[in-house]
Amino acid sequence: MKTPIIIDTDPGIDDVIAITAALFAEELDVKLITTVGGNVGIENTTRNAVNLVNFLGKGTPVAKGTAQPLLNKLVNASFVHGESGVGGYRFEEQENATVLSTRHAVEEMKELILHSAEPVTLVPIGPLTNVALLLRMYPKTKSNIKEIVLMGGAAQGGNRTPVAEFNIFADPHAAKIVFDEQIKIVMCGLDVTRLTSITTENVREIEGLGKVGDMVSRLLSDYDSTTSTHGSITIHDLCAVFYLTRPEIFKGKRATVNVVTEGEASGCTVTHYTEDGHVFVCLDADVEEFRREFVSTFKKVYEKMEG
Ligand code: BDR
Ligand code: CA
Repeated sequence: MKTPIIIDTDPGIDDVIAITAALFAEELDVKLITTVGGNVGIENTTRNAVNLVNFLGKGTPVAKGTAQPLLNKLVNASFVHGESGVGGYRFEEQENATVLSTRHAVEEMKELILHSAEPVTLVPIGPLTNVALLLRMYPKTKSNIKEIVLMGGAAQGGNRTPVAEFNIFADPHAAKIVFDEQIKIVMCGLDVTRLTSITTENVREIEGLGKVGDMVSRLLSDYDSTTSTHGSITIHDLCAVFYLTRPEIFKGKRATVNVVTEGEASGCTVTHYTEDGHVFVCLDADVEEFRREFVSTFKKVYEKMEG
């Protein structure tokens, strides 16, 4: 049986790649995509999500969420993803395009979770604003959330500051609400996303694969120029999707995670390892297998789209 999931996202180049992998994964049933302000503003992240769903020929519903973090001002990452959020890439306009939901993302998530026969997995790959609002506004949803598999945080280090990863730094108050809940969380943070960087050779292997290979390689050529080191490219958000489709690639430890919300260390995810912690922190991965999975995933997407 496919796992029903909701992807909460701020596309974002790595978000686009992660969503594409999820929408074609045999193991997953993407019921809903919700957007949040993050890498770029909410209008752009929402437009990118809708354009992507249409580009891929899927009918997955998209709902627009929260523009601003709970308390802080939005800090974006347009220096990584470009002003539009997808570098210089332009999606073609589609006929019969998916129409954006008229309801707020949090309302759509609530309806879907409360009415789902199967517990739903949340996959947040942007700031946690929508998810925190959901848990506070509709606490009854908690009993039908299977787990939260998120990209964010780091047991060690940071990318937005020396001690904070971008998604958590962008809305630390929301992140604190989410991590303080006793829901099972899988944290795919910088510890594992940096480890699972792919190579420029991997990108070359997929660039000739029709429309999707062209899109992914073009996106990565823009992203690559700002974030890659020594020919390796970190597609952070893809880790959360691959954790769900290929969990055996990852290793980690149980912990509790305290989010710092104020001061110089704001956004830091202070990780206390303990056997009874409700957070599984991914710390290691089979890098070669991750890279093979990247290439084979996009070969399969290509075959399904154009084969
Ligand atoms: C995270 O921040 C964003 O820029 C990426 O999309 C990813 O979700 C990495 O720190
Ligand atoms: Ca993201």
